[in-house]
Amino acid sequence: MQKAQFGMIGLGTMGRNLLLNIADHGIAACGYDRNTDQQKRLLEEGAGKPVIAAGTMKEFVDSLETPRRIMMLVPAGKIVDAVIDEISPLLQPGDILIDGGNSHYTDTDARIARLQNTGIHFTGMGVSGGEEGARFGPSMMPGGNATGYAELQPILEKIAAQSDEGPCVTFIGNGSAGHYTKMVHNGIEYAIMQLISEVYALLKNVAGLNNDELHELFAQWDKGPLQSFLIEITAKVFLQPDDVDKNRRLVDVILDRAGQKGTGMWTSNSALELHVPTPTINDAVTARDISVYKNERVQIEQYKKTVAETTTDKAALIHQLHDALSFGITLSYIQGLHLLHKASEVYQYQIDLAEVVRIWKGGCIIRSVLLNDIRKAYLQNKGSSNLLLDESFYTQLQNNRSAVTAVLQCAMNNGIGTACLSSSLQYFDMFSTGRSSSNLIQAQRDFFGAHTYERTDKEGSFHTQWD
Ligand code: 6PG
Repeated sequence: MQKAQFGMIGLGTMGRNLLLNIADHGIAACGYDRNTDQQKRLLEEGAGKPVIAAGTMKEFVDSLETPRRIMMLVPAGKIVDAVIDEISPLLQPGDILIDGGNSHYTDTDARIARLQNTGIHFTGMGVSGGEEGARFGPSMMPGGNATGYAELQPILEKIAAQSDEGPCVTFIGNGSAGHYTKMVHNGIEYAIMQLISEVYALLKNVAGLNNDELHELFAQWDKGPLQSFLIEITAKVFLQPDDVDKNRRLVDVILDRAGQKGTGMWTSNSALELHVPTPTINDAVTARDISVYKNERVQIEQYKKTVAETTTDKAALIHQLHDALSFGITLSYIQGLHLLHKASEVYQYQIDLAEVVRIWKGGCIIRSVLLNDIRKAYLQNKGSSNLLLDESFYTQLQNNRSAVTAVLQCAMNNGIGTACLSSSLQYFDMFSTGRSSSNLIQAQRDFFGAHTYERTDKEGSFHTQWD
């Protein structure tokens, strides 16, 4: 019997869909899941395709051609280690084991180290695009080592989303580079989602747009410079009727308590550790955290004095919101990519940011037309550490700055929290200030702790006996 060219462990929706995607390309595939119902579902959905299901782990391993290409799509954490424990004694040097879940990058490093002497290539790979992406073309971010990737490349390039610049997969870099990059992708995802929801709050509560108008506006924005997957699905959300009461829209009955699985927080934690400022991402995590305190929010709202009414030019506000959103989204990418640049240096990932941006152009959750400009800037080697160093980017943001201040003024007048828009502006203003006020911090540190300071007029480290 012909051996399978690719194996999948974990046949939940993501694993099943990715395996069906592989089989659609004529690649013989084998799936394994302890849950026999999932095995059955794979065989049902894969009828007529080159797909088989294995009953045991041993059968699964034996069904694959060597070097074996095996992906795990199981919940991140202990289960990944349990699967590695079970499968690694059955594998041979040269086999490739991919973790396609959202694992923490430090876990991936530990697993690479653990498997180092076995000759198994362990590949931590971020996969973005949700269920639909897995089925018809995700963006994939594999790390590890180039030898392992070479065995995967032809298959991954076939099943990936295709953009005008090729398949949305590339070898990201050494060690845990793939999972680190996916984590940052998610941090940017959190920031953009929060920015959109802040703009929604103003459009709904100040400009008074109803769901049909919100749908039309976002659909129209999706035709211009804001064109992106997240704007596109936001437009669609407003039209969805509630299943329980068809006269209502679903969005209006969804509880305003946001969930999170941790990747946004991991991004912020890592940014703080590496001292890379990512305030828009951090505030997006905080906003989800505040949202969870629903009961408290409802109680505290009762103490609120009604905010004085201010007149608002609705058309002007909508225009300003468009430009402010563009400003915030651009800075979310800039902050995330700055973090990736720094992590690549510190962890020796050797990430090519222009390539990362290229594979984010299709299939993933943060795909957008803006990535074309960002890629161009990286290809021209402008502002490799921080895109604000690219004058054309800076000028574009500067042109939208007055829209942001107008929106923030309006939000404050109306008592509407807009943390991410606000921190984007703070980041922009602080990063474009040549002489900041941090000289005073240095003076204070030296005053109370003799921590020394540098001077503007000569090299060296100085301490003063302060009076
Ligand atoms: C993707 C998504 C995916 C998942 C997030 C959701 O790129 O396809 O980011 O990985 O939807 O993990 O994360 P939260 O549950 O934390 O919002």
